[in-house]
Amino acid sequence: MGNILEIDDLNFSYPDSPRKAVADFSLNVPEGEIVVLAGPSGCGKSTLLRAVNGLIPHMYSGEYSGEVRVAGAGVKGSNMRDLAQKVGFLFQNPENQIFMFTVERDVAFGLENLGIPRPEMRERVDEAMRLLGIGDLALRAPHELSDGQKQRVALAGVLAMRPKLVILDEPTSLLDPKTAGELVDLVVRLRKELGTTFVVVEHRLDLLVRVADRLVVMNEGRKALEGTPRDVLFGEEADKYGVATPAVTKVQKMLAGGGLVSTDRLMTPAELAAKVGRGR
Ligand SMILES: Nc1ncnc2c1ncn2[C@@H]1O[C@H](COP(=O)(O)OP(=O)(O)O)[C@@H](O)[C@H]1O
Ligand SMILES: [Mg+2]
Repeated sequence: MGNILEIDDLNFSYPDSPRKAVADFSLNVPEGEIVVLAGPSGCGKSTLLRAVNGLIPHMYSGEYSGEVRVAGAGVKGSNMRDLAQKVGFLFQNPENQIFMFTVERDVAFGLENLGIPRPEMRERVDEAMRLLGIGDLALRAPHELSDGQKQRVALAGVLAMRPKLVILDEPTSLLDPKTAGELVDLVVRLRKELGTTFVVVEHRLDLLVRVADRLVVMNEGRKALEGTPRDVLFGEEADKYGVATPAVTKVQKMLAGGGLVSTDRLMTPAELAAKVGRGR
């Protein structure tokens, strides 16, 4: 399969800023992958996502060089309307996204803007609500819902557009651990059922590293590390860039140092407990 996303030597500075928010950044994402983007606050993660969904350079001015292509088409040369159908984007705070009177109207919002015919709109909205398990909320008012439900409504609105690529900026930051876990399960299921590619900015690596194909770590606008989560987290440099290594992985690393377990792959807490409990 080809690359759904190609970033070639991207550089971007906001106006009047002395330093680049994204610098010499290149990345290829094959279709169907789940990629996690991590790195300290201010390292350029959100800026990079804006360059993928087209807000940069179409809505933000600044100094821009390099190229970003989604499904082969240059983001700079595409209009926002075309991009909106290719790249689904979830705001960090669902409150910013939800403003319709009912859930189904909210899910339909993006399609209405595109002027999609009614019957097709109905079909797509119903499918998206079904995929997210929110069909029974169709006529509820979005503002009455829990954070987890709001997140699902927002994601249904994104999926109704049937984007090939979905980018999520810290989607679990407002969610309790259980709901955050459900969101991660959902990402895995959507990738499987729809073949959707996901690029997820996330601090909570404990939830995502086990399902991600790739972990990219940014530092000061640059790509610092890239590899499978296992390779990055067990690599020499993970600590150097302040990667929030999951507690279970730290324990695995420690035990591996003593020869108790291997580092062939990332282990779950249950696997680790079973190994250690049984002794050598
Ligand atoms: N709208 C903006 N205008 C000016 N500078 C910005 C803007 N958004 C982000 N920045 C700056 O760009 C750099 C990268 O920020 P950002 O992409 O938000 O990082 P992250 O998402 O990793 O926290 C930071 O130095 C930040 O202050
Ligand atoms: Mg950010």
